[in-house]
Amino acid sequence: MLRTKTCGELRIEHVGQTVTLSGWVQRTRDKGAMVWIDLRDRYGITQLILEEGVSDAAHLTLAKSLGREDVIQAEGLVIERSAKNANIPTGEIELKITSLKVMNKAKTPPFTIEDDTDGGDELRMKYRYLDIRRNPVRSALELRHRLSIEIRKYMDALNFLEIETPYLIKSTPEGARDFVVPSRMNPGEFYALPQSPQTFKQLLMVGGIDRYYQIVKCFRDEDLRADRQPEFTQIDCEMAFVERKDILDTFEGLIKHLFKKVLNVELPEFPHMTYADAMQYYGCDKPDLRFDMKFVELNNLVKGKGFPVFDAAELVVGINAQQAASYTRKQLDALTDFVKKPQLGATGLVYLRYNEDSTLKSSVDKFYSPEELQKWATAFNAKPGDLILVLAGGADKTRKALSELRLHLAEELGLRDPKVFKPLWVIDFPLLEYNEDEKRFFAMHHPFTSPHADDVHLMNSDPGKARANAYDMVINGVELGGGSVRIHNRELQKHMFSILGFSDEEAQNQFGFLMNAFEYGAPPHAGLAFGFDRMCAIFSGKDSIRDFIAFPKNNSGRDVMIDSPSFIDQKQLEELSLIVNKK
Ligand code: AMO
Repeated sequence: MLRTKTCGELRIEHVGQTVTLSGWVQRTRDKGAMVWIDLRDRYGITQLILEEGVSDAAHLTLAKSLGREDVIQAEGLVIERSAKNANIPTGEIELKITSLKVMNKAKTPPFTIEDDTDGGDELRMKYRYLDIRRNPVRSALELRHRLSIEIRKYMDALNFLEIETPYLIKSTPEGARDFVVPSRMNPGEFYALPQSPQTFKQLLMVGGIDRYYQIVKCFRDEDLRADRQPEFTQIDCEMAFVERKDILDTFEGLIKHLFKKVLNVELPEFPHMTYADAMQYYGCDKPDLRFDMKFVELNNLVKGKGFPVFDAAELVVGINAQQAASYTRKQLDALTDFVKKPQLGATGLVYLRYNEDSTLKSSVDKFYSPEELQKWATAFNAKPGDLILVLAGGADKTRKALSELRLHLAEELGLRDPKVFKPLWVIDFPLLEYNEDEKRFFAMHHPFTSPHADDVHLMNSDPGKARANAYDMVINGVELGGGSVRIHNRELQKHMFSILGFSDEEAQNQFGFLMNAFEYGAPPHAGLAFGFDRMCAIFSGKDSIRDFIAFPKNNSGRDVMIDSPSFIDQKQLEELSLIVNKK
């Protein structure tokens, strides 16, 4: 070993020991006769000290020449510091150097390796290996590791088998866009990288593996956001001979286990909310329950009083921001601008201020008497000091805009505390959604999802109305995972494909392997998958998943460090039959 201790290890009880440390120079302080070096490794920082007349002159000169991020090895005696530093665990001691060696010189890094670095996103991605040296990134990777260990412990204790499924699979038309890989040995043909191991895990159930899981890379060629990467990791799970309740219990148990073990947080039982309620009361299928601000619909109270905007609207709906009546005109204008931006497209924002003196002031006083406004306030259960905000228009669009406004306000009011965790299950999603452009149904979750037991009869008469036996786990407004009870019957699966617009032949071509397997004794089965990167981000109270991935892609799907994707040469293209050799 090129070290006997790490830079985070030495304490007062080590005083008197001779140790060897290796690491990176965080900084040096040269006071002429004295030189201090902060030496850093994964475990912490230890102060090294050299002194004129005491230390070897060559070592002192070498120490003075050190630059940031040089890799050095230092042997020395652990001594008690005269000026202690209570901010770091090694702050009571320092190392009096007896031997110093430069193992590798470093160029000046393009950004500071500090918790608060001066490096921008792109630069840090280009030099990701330097970024990883910083505490916030390293601890994010440590958290990821800790979670993966605890996941495996929990799953193993419940008899789940971790089984790998292939990465080179077959492109299918449903879901997001596939990443494809040309096959050299089968000219003109392509593999696809899996968007998830969905069909394989179902085949494992047919194979008698009644409890499967895998921490697995998935690939989706979709537009990227803070919580989406083109390659990301799922905790993918499936169980046979179970019903929905068994899945919800098992995986609520997993999440509780992880919160307890990793964050020492005890979570109470997760509430269940139907998709219909989530949309009605929060305007989205992943409500953030850290704060209230439930939607209140006002159609019955506000229509027919001469205010044309409300009279013409399909839906008039609002929220009560508690203790926000002090919002100034300027702040209200900013909220109006927020809902009017093109992505939300609201035409305006109506407010009702419930002043501390119990008077009411609204932006529509012209149309509504104080008595009428009092009825609004009652509908919202408002109290003096509250601010009611109301939107009107087409139902779907208005709910979406109000949902965004709700989150935006909560952010402004400091209600999205990253240390508070509010999980829930959203259940009873619609089975299908109609795509106006393509004039056909798409599966809302995926085509292998079974209809809700009470809605099977609708599969022939009115499939668009059927609910799915599907569920999502949501924490703090983030969809952490989702899954469903599966179809395990060939005829129902075939019917599902026909509803999705597949001819029998297309269905057989694309998914024949699964439907055939269903004829050989497929057990009832169900499962779900969590987004592992998202899980890490939620545990850390962060919005972006990037720092929980060692080598992430940027928003254009590029790895700017290795500069990929990249062009490949003519010969490779020919070999893969992607172009024809004209010679
Ligand atoms: P689904 O498509 O809902 O379900 O994905 C499961 C979970 O994976 C995470 N996730 C992502 N994370 C980061 N980047 C992405 N691009 C990305 N896409 C999805 C989310 C999501 O909840 N096979 C089904 C699961 C099942 O039915 O068992 C599936 O893949 O957290």
